[in-house]
Amino acid sequence: MSATPRVPVPHHLDEPLPMTLPRLAEMKRLGKPIVMVTAYDYPSAQVAQLAGVDIVLVGDSGAMTVLGYPSTVPVSTEEMLMLASAVRRGLETPLLVGDLPFGSYEASDEQAIATAQRFVKEAGCDAVKLERGGTSVQRARAIVESGIPVMGHVGLTPQTATALGGYRAQGRTASRALQVAEDALALEEAGCFSLVFEAIPAAVAETVVKRLEVPVIGIGAGPATDGQVLVFHDLLGIYDGHAPRFAKHYADLRSLMVAGVAEYAAEVRSGAFPGPEHSYSIDERELAEFRAGLN
Ligand code: KIV
Repeated sequence: MSATPRVPVPHHLDEPLPMTLPRLAEMKRLGKPIVMVTAYDYPSAQVAQLAGVDIVLVGDSGAMTVLGYPSTVPVSTEEMLMLASAVRRGLETPLLVGDLPFGSYEASDEQAIATAQRFVKEAGCDAVKLERGGTSVQRARAIVESGIPVMGHVGLTPQTATALGGYRAQGRTASRALQVAEDALALEEAGCFSLVFEAIPAAVAETVVKRLEVPVIGIGAGPATDGQVLVFHDLLGIYDGHAPRFAKHYADLRSLMVAGVAEYAAEVRSGAFPGPEHSYSIDERELAEFRAGLN
């Protein structure tokens, strides 16, 4: 029996398609889980690209994971733009979302639009994210009306963690859960294309997700959301700060990195590095002439 000849698939048809807002909406409709991860520089963006994630967020968590601040509050727009620009250079197909840092969008619609425009024009982001309901709903509406897609973020909103009583799960009483639902519905009504639910009970997330049409990406919000997001440095075990309950570690890169640098240090000290294979040679006569020329 002759085998059916296989038609070679052109390479470009194998490549992932660029992620778009309609494709995300379609993923929700089809029940296809959406994978989002944070990235803060060129190599982490390349890793996210190669791993085939759908959305990359340049999260203000980068304030802590790569800039060493004690919280997300101090990071500036300039710093976030530098991180986002580096991510842009390492990324092709995932949707790139830039996190508007604390203090860069709350004061007025004009401030919010101007900051969002910088993330799009200067860093090449496809969309921006902002935190909270309340006055952020109007800021989200203004940015969307200016033509920039917005992702909302409710539940635990680290930029205002102090007002929430610290880094703790939200929506654990009926009235607080109703507040989370109200914020989420208001952000959807304001035009957000997607929402992040952070650190809320799984049953609350499941109930609210059913009321929403836009895709919901969860972090510490259980399995019923339309997708999941983790912080790059948490999931790979690079960050040594406090890891929340929801931060699953898929690798322990920090130990590998320390071991690698420690081995390098030991080899420099013992003289084992660099070896001949890491050094350049020069023709003997050229060397002799060079040495003679020095006298
Ligand atoms: O800054 C960040 O990394 C985030 C995610 C946790 C959603 O906002």
